[in-house]
Amino acid sequence: STPMNIAVIPGDGIGPEVVAEAVKVLEKAVSAEDIELQLTEYKLGAEHWLESGETLPDATLQALRGHDAILFGAVGAAPGDTRIPSGLIEREMLLKLRFSLDHYVNLRPSRLYQGVASPLANPGPIDFVVVREGTEGPYVGNGGALRVGTAQEVATEVSVNTAYGVERVVRDGFRRASARPRKKLTYVHKHNVLVYAGHLWKRTVEAVAAEFPDVAVDYLHVDAAMIFLVTDPARFDVIVTDNLFGDIITDLAAAVTGGIGLAASGNINMDRTAPSMFEPVHGSAPDIAGQQKADPTAAILSAALLLEHLGYDAAARRVEHAVIADISQRSPDAARSTAAIGDAICAAV
Ligand code: NAD
Ligand code: IPM
Ligand code: MN
Repeated sequence: STPMNIAVIPGDGIGPEVVAEAVKVLEKAVSAEDIELQLTEYKLGAEHWLESGETLPDATLQALRGHDAILFGAVGAAPGDTRIPSGLIEREMLLKLRFSLDHYVNLRPSRLYQGVASPLANPGPIDFVVVREGTEGPYVGNGGALRVGTAQEVATEVSVNTAYGVERVVRDGFRRASARPRKKLTYVHKHNVLVYAGHLWKRTVEAVAAEFPDVAVDYLHVDAAMIFLVTDPARFDVIVTDNLFGDIITDLAAAVTGGIGLAASGNINMDRTAPSMFEPVHGSAPDIAGQQKADPTAAILSAALLLEHLGYDAAARRVEHAVIADISQRSPDAARSTAAIGDAICAAV
């Protein structure tokens, strides 16, 4: 059989630390299934920019297109770092990858695993997935500023929503809801205020809903959705939402399910015209970088999503079960290093 050909982008801060563990686990999982794995590492991120002045060269983007999938750590400098303009790496590298490779489904599952302490007193069973739009919204860089630095400064950041882009992600949300036992889709927006984009989303959901009579549809304004994410997270099954709302919702979702160190994601091109990219929801965590304090579980679960996307379901289940087994034995007062967590999960694969 042809080898599984994976690009690895460790990135900055804790990125290399957590990716090292995800790679360990990936190697173990595929060896147990007799799959050949070929890994190619790419040096990209804020540190790489400081050394080379490169964000994402065309040749690198082209090379990345040749892989089956990408495993990504995290990029970005510390918020106070003045050596690098804020947003440069995020936009010119990370978002450029998501946009160029048409990662229109940003899939972010949230589950409260057995044995994990939620900060909520009565969380109930939490098991939902956020389908975050990945290529549009206010992320596209459609903005500008006038009279910068003056008292008359005007800045715009225009959210772009196309019928094509909204429909494909909404349809993906319905497909996923239809395939899940509870068959419930909640779309989250703010159509009481954002009437142009909001009404496009609303009409699209209503039109696509007609094709999925088995799916129960619910709508929440994003502010109210934040109430329910804390007071009754068990009500959610599939959440479909735009790029910015999805970013914010998924950090809160991570927090209520035991922390950002457990939250995995996939930037998925469902049409498979380019490789999809799998990464933890968290960033480069400069505050704990280089100290072996980061939890690699999110990166490891992202590797499981990668395996699943490529059709290696048995290997994906192995990783997921190993994580579940490890999590169920965690003790809050016995902090383990990044590598120790990775080793324990690896041993359980
Ligand atoms: P962050 O997610 O890096 O960190 C937020 C908090 O969560 C920090 O206290 C951090 O220590 C903690 N944390 C994060 N991951 C953890 C892990 N695996 N285990 C334990 N604790 C963890 O968010 P931030 O501080 O807002 O951003 C830092 C940098 O990362 C910025 O440059 C930002 O742009 C970038 N960023 C990148 C990505 C990405 O590459 N996908 C995602 C988010 C932020
Ligand atoms: C994430 C991050 C990114 C986003 C940033 C770093 C561009 O916060 O992956 O959630 O906003 O999508
Ligand atoms: Mn985010």
